[in-house]
Amino acid sequence: MPITLIIGTQWGDEGKGKVVDYYSKNADYVTRFQGGNNAGHTIQVEDEIYKLHITPSGVIQGKTGVIGNGVVIDPEILIKEINELTQRDIKPNLLISDRAHLIMPYHKLLDGAEETKLGAKKIGTTKRGIGPCYSDKISRNGIRTIDLLHPTILKEKLNRIIPIKQKMLALYGKKDQLDVTKIYADYLKYGKTLSTYIAPTHLILNKAIKENKTLLFEGAQGTMLDVDFGTYPYTTSSHTIAGGAAIGTGINPSYLTKIVGIVKAYTTRVGEGPLPTELFDKTGEHLQEKGHEFGTTTSRPRRCGWFDLVVLRHSTMLSGVTHLAITKLDVLTGLKKIKICTHYKLKNETIDYFPANTEDLEGCTPIYKIFEGWNDLPSTIKKYSDLPNNARVYLDFIQNELSIPIKLVSFGPKRSETIECSNKLMNINRGLNPSNI
Ligand code: GDP
Ligand code: IMO
Ligand code: MG
Repeated sequence: MPITLIIGTQWGDEGKGKVVDYYSKNADYVTRFQGGNNAGHTIQVEDEIYKLHITPSGVIQGKTGVIGNGVVIDPEILIKEINELTQRDIKPNLLISDRAHLIMPYHKLLDGAEETKLGAKKIGTTKRGIGPCYSDKISRNGIRTIDLLHPTILKEKLNRIIPIKQKMLALYGKKDQLDVTKIYADYLKYGKTLSTYIAPTHLILNKAIKENKTLLFEGAQGTMLDVDFGTYPYTTSSHTIAGGAAIGTGINPSYLTKIVGIVKAYTTRVGEGPLPTELFDKTGEHLQEKGHEFGTTTSRPRRCGWFDLVVLRHSTMLSGVTHLAITKLDVLTGLKKIKICTHYKLKNETIDYFPANTEDLEGCTPIYKIFEGWNDLPSTIKKYSDLPNNARVYLDFIQNELSIPIKLVSFGPKRSETIECSNKLMNINRGLNPSNI
């Protein structure tokens, strides 16, 4: 049984939570494979709104949620999230990889201290300790969930690592005192609460594949925040692209054959770093207000801009996206003209790829095609052909340019505001040519 992998193709917040929830109805297991509680995935079922940071979105549909080895876990936040869901009558059925790394109090302190030190050049992280935790994983100084079940090993590691972290904090001018005894006691307590969930999830998932179960993988963040292929250093610290899913779960990549790229109908970004199509005008305000573009995790306003095909070429190529799911189409309703950036102009050269260098990116000017807008997007839409003609022209241009069919369109936050499409790439040219500026 092929695995459906759902990933963000832009700078995160594309609507992954909504789409994962939608596809979860047919899944047995829904697995997060990277990131941590820097993510904020929103699911709206009628008027009930769930904002999940670490628990896989499939638990809202009652499916088994798996937190894979590639995820970094803040156990305090995870326990809080489990309790909050339980209070709302959703008892999450969870499995947590015994190899997943733990976010420790010093990771959060260091994340904040590093940002302060960077000053005007800060990344704009969520300050959840993500970068420092992944750094410790790679430098083999990490603490994993399995360590919570082995108190002697946990104590030995904390005794070795904490004095070093204390010195690092002092170098950043931080006076916080790390209390080894308290951290040890707190993490032992978290371990007791989570012990029934901790398991070799890579074995469980591989067995599930053999048993023909249906697996869904839920990406966090988006391609442009990938630590290698995003706008480095203004990225997160994990691999957000499809390749990260194999590593972050222990499933061999040949199973990852259905790769759904979640694509917001325009572009947003939260935090610092280049955003070539960013808007600083009334249209930017329209997108922010109508799209309620405020971070799910940090409540920071999201920067907004036009749709960027250069980004989408980059992200769909890197992940081998086979299906597109367009979200937030409703937010464009009411705009007279809508633009898509097709290329960048960089030092008198027209380019169609995403440059590696931040300075080059900041020097890029978007080249746009202009589309006619639409005034109404009725909530009664049932199929692609019900969409206003101008909306279809806009979407057809995107799927034709990328040669990837749109299989889902979302036009509101609720589950019901979604249509599945049977688009194939033939027969979608309506003969309407959007004009160049
Ligand atoms: P994620 O991080 O990719 O899961 O996305 P977030 O949950 O952080 O942000 C997406 C926001 O858009 C959430 O508030 C969703 O409820 C909302 N949303 C998702 N799809 C749509 C849509 O089609 N239209 C509108 N208006 N809102 C949507
Ligand atoms: P979801 O899964 C949007 C951004 C932060 C910052 C950068 C690094 O909800 O799409 P980090 O705390 O990861 O070290 O911050 O990445 N960022 C996100 N932006 N959506 C997210 O997750 C994000 N997770 C991290 O704003 O710019
Ligand atoms: Mg989000």
